[in-house]
Amino acid sequence: MAGVSVDEAIQSLSVTIGATVPTGFEHTAAEEVQEKIGAIARISKDRGRIYFEISTVHLHKVHHLKSVDNLFVVVKHYDNYQFKETKEEALLDLQQLAPVLPWDPALEVWKINNSLKKKRGRRRGAGPPKLKTCDASEPVQPQADVAELKEKPEGTCAEQEPNPEGEHDSDIQETEAKPLKFRVTCNRAGDKHSFTSNDAARDFGGAVQEFFQWKADMTRFDVEVLLNIHNNEVVIGIALTEESLHRRNITHFGPTTLRSTLAYGMLRLCKPQMSDIIVDPMCGSGAIPLEGVIEWSNSFFLSGDNNDMAISRTVNNINHILKKKQDGGSISPGLSIDTAQWDLCNLPLKTSSVDIITTDMPFGKRMGSRKRNWDLYPSCLREMARVCRPDTGRAVLLTQDKKCFTKALSRMGGLWRKTHTVWVNVGGLHAGVFVLRRMAALFGSTPEDVREPRMGCVSQDDNIEENVQSSRSE
Ligand SMILES: C[S@@+](CC[C@H](N)C(=O)[O-])C[C@H]1O[C@@H](n2cnc3c(N)ncnc32)[C@H](O)[C@@H]1O
Repeated sequence: MAGVSVDEAIQSLSVTIGATVPTGFEHTAAEEVQEKIGAIARISKDRGRIYFEISTVHLHKVHHLKSVDNLFVVVKHYDNYQFKETKEEALLDLQQLAPVLPWDPALEVWKINNSLKKKRGRRRGAGPPKLKTCDASEPVQPQADVAELKEKPEGTCAEQEPNPEGEHDSDIQETEAKPLKFRVTCNRAGDKHSFTSNDAARDFGGAVQEFFQWKADMTRFDVEVLLNIHNNEVVIGIALTEESLHRRNITHFGPTTLRSTLAYGMLRLCKPQMSDIIVDPMCGSGAIPLEGVIEWSNSFFLSGDNNDMAISRTVNNINHILKKKQDGGSISPGLSIDTAQWDLCNLPLKTSSVDIITTDMPFGKRMGSRKRNWDLYPSCLREMARVCRPDTGRAVLLTQDKKCFTKALSRMGGLWRKTHTVWVNVGGLHAGVFVLRRMAALFGSTPEDVREPRMGCVSQDDNIEENVQSSRSE
């Protein structure tokens, strides 16, 4: 390698990065990867994952992706792994796999990743290790079988921040030759396996421990080895993120706060253009407009809700981002966003004044009720059609109450046309993101415009908020 130093060669390793993304938004995430990193992503058979090749010189870029929850570097990918029939044989194979895997490039990436985190940590000022409280905001993977190498201590989450950012024991190991601490997390899906994820994590983990002479530690680990098994697809990886990136903007959570990664996916479907006016009329804690104003700063965002607690959460979340901007020395003074308390069915906005409406509607479970949705949804669609610009206006609306939404939409043919639906998993619930186009008809000129006064709107008291945290899993 004439003229290339060993350091340079290491820095420009080509590796496969895996990312977990909100189920249903795999294609959106692949688009973002192509746009921001220039890599073509492969969408896994296992829904909710994408893979792409990068050179390690671009590793920092993957942490800026907005549609990914967790990142890992792939050690080895088997597209069609043949599991033996009996439990003993299948587990023995997994044990024998550990010492023959090509660990070195992935561990090199893990080290580079740690030094990147160290740099970021220094910029932000690394704090002491935090024990995360359990909330329900992790996606529920129905039928998925997840286990770590050892039992978790009671009352802690599977994910626990191992160390302050960048203070990995790898550094200690170099100076004091302490063994690294690790854990194995196994995600298994498929009904043809003779073993559980616990069995796989335990036996594969044991073999990893023996091979590297690392120390197993469920909570203060340096390395998290991932064993993802989906039918016959097996992917072994090393985690590059310690906590899901979907929590990035929100400090004041509400009962149905949407993941920032889902909010990003919805906004991408809106295709925001420069100077667009974008409204979230049921903003809750503001996940959608906050994500929007950070990523699409050339548009103007308006967020509103009829619930005063929701409004104060949004305002607090905006203030938190503003403070972070100021502390980071940003020269741009503010954010192009405003918040108001309003009733969606009587918006204080001019007719035909809005380019995009995007919102996460009450599913009618934790928020509102299914019965009230029969009145609320038609009123929403009508008022949204009034404020949205004819012909060019669009709406991207999330709901799990698909029957009610589809019925309401079918009565609005003159005002809205559905272009497509993206099916997503929201906290274990099957929901639809409906992409609508505003028809050319002026508001007031179609039979759909007529409505009974104030029909369908609810007072804020109707939006009873349970004091439970969730990932928008009503
Ligand atoms: C599913 S939540 C939105 C959650 C939000 N995306 C977040 O990240 O927190 C639906 C919101 O609609 C609001 N809402 C219900 N009916 C409304 C109405 N008529 N006008 C305005 N907001 C309404 C509720 O107060 C609630 O905050």
